[in-house]
Amino acid sequence: MSPSAPDQNTSDRILVVDDEPNMLGLFKKVLGKGGYDVVTAFSGEEAIKKLETGWFDLIISDLKMPGLSGLELLKKVKSMRPTLPCIVLTAHGTIDSAVAAMKAGAYDYLTKPINNDEITLTVKKALDLHRLTREVERLREKVGVEGALGNIIGRSKPMQDLFRLIERVANSHTTILIYGESGTGKELFARAIHQQSPRRERPFVAIDCGALPETLLESELFGHVRGSFTGAVSNKKGLFEEADGGTLLLDEIGDTTPAFQSKLLRVLQENEIRPVGGNKTIKVDVRVIAATNKDLKKSVEKKSFREDLYYRLAVVPIVIPPLRQRREDIPLLADHFIKKYCERNRLEPKRISPKALRLLVESPWPGNVRELENVIERAVLMNPATEIAAEALFMEPSVEQPDDALYKVIRTATETVEKEKITEATLKAKGNRSRAAKLLGISRATLYNKLKRYNLIE
Ligand SMILES: Nc1ncnc2c1ncn2[C@@H]1O[C@H](COP(=O)(O)OP(=O)(O)OP(=O)(O)O)[C@@H](O)[C@H]1O
Ligand SMILES: [Mg+2]
Repeated sequence: MSPSAPDQNTSDRILVVDDEPNMLGLFKKVLGKGGYDVVTAFSGEEAIKKLETGWFDLIISDLKMPGLSGLELLKKVKSMRPTLPCIVLTAHGTIDSAVAAMKAGAYDYLTKPINNDEITLTVKKALDLHRLTREVERLREKVGVEGALGNIIGRSKPMQDLFRLIERVANSHTTILIYGESGTGKELFARAIHQQSPRRERPFVAIDCGALPETLLESELFGHVRGSFTGAVSNKKGLFEEADGGTLLLDEIGDTTPAFQSKLLRVLQENEIRPVGGNKTIKVDVRVIAATNKDLKKSVEKKSFREDLYYRLAVVPIVIPPLRQRREDIPLLADHFIKKYCERNRLEPKRISPKALRLLVESPWPGNVRELENVIERAVLMNPATEIAAEALFMEPSVEQPDDALYKVIRTATETVEKEKITEATLKAKGNRSRAAKLLGISRATLYNKLKRYNLIE
């Protein structure tokens, strides 16, 4: 049986492995000062025994040791505890062994003689990453419950707010305008609204308004009668009729002409269409959702979009933020897509390496979720290993303040866990704060501060 993770509040436990007592002493001193719980082992064999019985958040190991070598230990650790980060120690001038260790899955390496500040910094980074990986594992189990709405993944505050918003508006008949950059999930949201609405048994029809010239678009949407233009050899039903009782998504609405816009406005006001070339109108019952990646307000100012139609459509505006503004969603999305493409291609389940995850979280994603999905699909298909390494993503490291992005994600993740633990303990302690603090292993004052910070008390 593998040891289980301890509570959030205990300090991080680090296993240091080296055959030199001096080195162990040094680590004990430096890391002990940093508030870490340090356990030492003189050999790889001893390290494995300790790993079998205790929980560790990080392992630091020398590479050159009698008996089991550092590299062998590393491989063993990777199979026992795939997400446990390992830092290896190499002697100055033996960079080759460091490279081999990195290839075998080490998180980082330190070169002897070792600088104290370097130890602290490298250890902190590795632990942050481990926390993130653990949080992802935890979320993976919960994602079905609250990190998604149907197949829309999103745990960030803006996505959760949107989920609540669409649950509220799905039942009504109101027109909805969805705005978002390319690849943010506009169509996915439109489908979700349809699925949540009483119209779900009726058709969902989508059309890209930007892809067709005006006359064709009108005939597509409203239908036409035979002979109304060259090529109209028979009567044709329009998409409004096809979608009767259901939902019609007018995608790229910002690319339409003002003449089309005024016709559409009439349809929305009258709930009836007139096929091109026809003289009879047809009643339709369709809920219209429009989507755009253009700032329609600006188009209205520039007079390229009719103001009256804008207000008619934007009864409920839904703004999907770009992925770079909700990086907390990236680990869940990555996980979701890895599963999706492993299943689709009948591959054994894969996981992502902590370093690869970091690269994903830090990337700018101009193509938003679609781009992330493509990167993952490629990595899953091209990479036979169970663990997707950073190199398998074929991505440039980001130039945006990378650490900020990562730390924000970790902070949000940690806060979520902390909030849950506090609520749990408070319930268990039946509201008695001293007892709750005791259960959590923190002081009453700390508990009070945290309760305030998370708005759990007035
Ligand atoms: N939150 C999400 N959870 C899961 N999958 C998502 C999410 N957002 C987007 N996707 C996926 O990303 C891809 C792009 O989404 P979609 O087509 O809805 O974007 P879009 O905003 O309509 O893009 P475009 O402007 O290019 O038309 C789809 O494969 C979709 O399933
Ligand atoms: Mg789209």
